[in-house]
Amino acid sequence: MSNKFYITTPIYYVNDRPHIGHAYCTIVADVVARAHRLMGDEVFFLTGLDEHGQKVQQAAQAKGVAPRQFCDEMAPHWRELWPRLSVSNDDFIRTTEPRHKAVVQSLLQQLYDKGEIYTGEYEGWYSARAEQFLTDKEMGPGGKFPAEYGEVVRLTEKNYFFKMSKYQDWLISYILEHPEFVYPDYRRNEILGFLQKPLGDLCISRPKTRLTWGIPLPFDPGHVTYVWFDALTNYVTAAGYGTPRFGQVWPADVHLIGKEILMFHACYWPIMLKACGIPLPRQVAAHGWWTRDGQKMSKSVGNVVDPVAVVDAWGADALRYYLLRELPVGSDGDWTDTNFARRYNGELANDLGNLLNRALSMIKRYCKGVVPAPGPAEPLDDELKTTALDTAKRFPGRVAKLEVNRLLGDIWELIRRGNQYVDAAAPWALAKDPAKAARLGAVLYNLAETCRIIGILLAPFMPTTADKIRAQLGVAAAPAVLADAQKWGVLPSGGSLGEVTPLFPRKDK
Ligand code: MSP
Repeated sequence: MSNKFYITTPIYYVNDRPHIGHAYCTIVADVVARAHRLMGDEVFFLTGLDEHGQKVQQAAQAKGVAPRQFCDEMAPHWRELWPRLSVSNDDFIRTTEPRHKAVVQSLLQQLYDKGEIYTGEYEGWYSARAEQFLTDKEMGPGGKFPAEYGEVVRLTEKNYFFKMSKYQDWLISYILEHPEFVYPDYRRNEILGFLQKPLGDLCISRPKTRLTWGIPLPFDPGHVTYVWFDALTNYVTAAGYGTPRFGQVWPADVHLIGKEILMFHACYWPIMLKACGIPLPRQVAAHGWWTRDGQKMSKSVGNVVDPVAVVDAWGADALRYYLLRELPVGSDGDWTDTNFARRYNGELANDLGNLLNRALSMIKRYCKGVVPAPGPAEPLDDELKTTALDTAKRFPGRVAKLEVNRLLGDIWELIRRGNQYVDAAAPWALAKDPAKAARLGAVLYNLAETCRIIGILLAPFMPTTADKIRAQLGVAAAPAVLADAQKWGVLPSGGSLGEVTPLFPRKDK
């Protein structure tokens, strides 16, 4: 029976250009989505764009275009990036779409009708130049705001508030009772720590006099919706909220996000859903941040890693491999070009590339390119077979726990065993003795069978490479399914290999 699996990325701010941090989040989600498809699950994988708010309105103004046009011009940078990174999202949501406006307004109206929203006064430091309220974050030493904000005045304005605070105790109990809700564990503790302090009510509106670029409140067209209320709702919009499909897709299984937006996802969002009577997502998983050469990436420093440039130089699979292999989901990572090249040459070209190339070249040379027959197993063979099957058996557990980095480590252990097997069994020596022809065939069969299993297990991580492995083995016609990696002896003897070419040409400088 297939299970449904719904995974999301954050919706990215449309006014940014995609960089390696955004690519990382989306690629991790893609690996998990593909892994679930490989297990036979019914997957829905969502990404998209966050298009409303002050920053977009200002960026559009600066370019002298309407916000709508600005968004339409920026959106392709994002939408078209994902296929280049082999990202297999099933939907791409933009918060300016009519389907989204309808859902945001419907949720707001329901909350309003239930008495969960009230009007109040918002008082704070307002910068007319920046057209925004400033918080303590912006305040410099001595309680002064930086000069770029111009004159900052105390301002009071009428706004709408969502009664978030009354759900605080409920949320604490919920998180305590559902240890898997916030991932990893240390982030859960961080959220519980944050919830020790009183949670205020959430201001969910901005007066139109200040901000026009937003979804109007259904009960007061003089106000637009606060951007986080609008943004978080995307996850239910895309699941078809208000249609029969919603019951089949929702709740989300994993909201994958960066650590700095955990509070919105693990506090605001569950409370919004609870107040609307919508079931909660199973998990909010926070990943870490990438630096480059130990430094924060920033446009002004000019050290931002551009995912497109990496893909052009090294290929999407090499990028995906590096990002996934470097660190577990949750930890921070540091990008260095040297480390990237080292992993490429050592792990992709050498370990993986050599295993496949050696195995298949020998089948070409010694068996005319036809998969030989398996023979009686020797202890050496059993060891290889056990490693392969154990790796495939561990796969679902690793994926369920988002241990995709360890899973990749397991697969590399199998690849290394495969290479050791070649050295120990020494097919080139067997080939010199006609009496050992059957043993030679058996050894090459075991190698090809190991490569077949690797060609399935790698599919979520490096989809193009996995396809190439299976094409070279002559088994590309059958779709990759995990169950086939959990069995030994599936590769048919007598089948012809495809064209044998190196997977990752070495790029030593
Ligand atoms: N629009 C909001 C999210 C709304 S979700 C309902 C937003 N957008 S964002 O474009 O600023 O950031 C999106 C994601 O990119 C975040 O999860 C963030 O962690 C990730 N990253 C941005 N820079 C990053 C790194 N340097 N490293 C890793 N991920 C980082 O926030």
